Amino acid sequence: MPGLCVIGLQWGDEAKGKLVDWLAEGRDLIVRYQGGANAGHTVVVGDEVYKLHLIPSGIVNPGILNLITAGVVIHPKTLLGEIDSLLERGVDISDRLLLSGRAHCVMPWHIIEDKIWNQVNSGDDNIGTTLRGIGPCYRDKVGRSFAIRMSDLIQPDLEQQIRRITEYKIQSLAPFCENGQVDLDASQIVEEYSHYAKRLQPFIADTTRLLLDAVDQDKAILFEGAQGSLLDVDFGTYPFVTSSNSSGVGVSSGAGVPGKWIGKTIGVAKSYSTRVGGGPFPTELHDETGEHIRIKGNEFGTTTGRPRRCGWFDAVAVRYTCRLSGADTICLTMLDVLSELSKIDVCVAYELDGKRIEFFPENVANLRRVTPIYETLPGWQQDITSCRKREDLPPNARAYAARLSELCGRPIEFISVGPDREQTIVLNPDESLLDSLVS
Ligand code: IMP
Repeated sequence: MPGLCVIGLQWGDEAKGKLVDWLAEGRDLIVRYQGGANAGHTVVVGDEVYKLHLIPSGIVNPGILNLITAGVVIHPKTLLGEIDSLLERGVDISDRLLLSGRAHCVMPWHIIEDKIWNQVNSGDDNIGTTLRGIGPCYRDKVGRSFAIRMSDLIQPDLEQQIRRITEYKIQSLAPFCENGQVDLDASQIVEEYSHYAKRLQPFIADTTRLLLDAVDQDKAILFEGAQGSLLDVDFGTYPFVTSSNSSGVGVSSGAGVPGKWIGKTIGVAKSYSTRVGGGPFPTELHDETGEHIRIKGNEFGTTTGRPRRCGWFDAVAVRYTCRLSGADTICLTMLDVLSELSKIDVCVAYELDGKRIEFFPENVANLRRVTPIYETLPGWQQDITSCRKREDLPPNARAYAARLSELCGRPIEFISVGPDREQTIVLNPDESLLDSLVS
């Protein structure tokens, strides 16, 4: 069975976790293939709220195998914290979670480096990372001389490797630390990581072979993207991006499956836009409406608690990411958040140097200079959180979703009207959202 992918179409936080959890039923494997503990996935099942950073959102569905593959950078302490909290809540993870020996470990020096580098640029140039050591860990991965992978954790020379790298890191980071003091103690790190190694050993496996076998055996596999397409290190708003390929192009390399084997991609987009950290955001709202969306949508980071920047839906950006990530259909989330507004703007094009453009600029300097061209749609001003099918939605809400679909060039397959699993409207992508609308 060709693989199914769930990919964020904006700057992350599109509520992908809920869709993954929804789609997990009947799947054999869920694969997390890029990013690290910078991600925050919330899954709500009844009264239970699960906040996950590294473990795939499918872990709450019994009977599914969850893999963390080579493209992920793993912070062992965070991972163990998640494992323990799931165990405490009675979620059986034995034999249901495996970690690739090829995945890289986030080490204490990566967190220190993230803090130092994040201060190098200030103001508009500040990337505003999550400070989880993600960029520095990927940098060491590509650099190759100072990297530790999950399989290295269980090698006899772990202590030697940690001591060698700690010595180098202390030397290289000293000029950037107060009084030249780098807060790294090799013996302490050896002790800490030996403990993690012991606990994580049962989970470490050759997930590459396992996944390729699963492909050969025609298993049902779901790939869970983290962050969003506009944060992709190569195709996003560079340098205001994360350090992995967080668009659809990263599935194959991060998971280790042939690209041709990916069958369907569902792109997830919020009904408006948000972004955390620095970087251009053409449709950002600095007014009461932006604040209203932030409060109503609880737009505060799952990982860092930072308030998210909020703005109107940017159809230029999402049209681009639908194409880049190969989205076949869209899952439109948080539609209920817009319910109280009397009118809603949608960015349909940009103006750059006096010209109308329909494409997403390649360079952030240009993206910073664009002015959004808006189309205004009427709001619906009624609670939609109990809507369960297309016909339940007020005509203006359907017309809004239909217009986004038209602008992005993709059918909408799911509309989410609340955090709970049940608050999901499933649409037939071949049917118009506007069919059966009384005009
Ligand atoms: P990093 O991934 O911690 O290096 O952060 C780089 C940029 O990506 C920053 O602007 C972060 O706020 C953003 N970012 C990283 N992970 C997420 C996420 O899961 N959701 C939204 N933004 C994220």
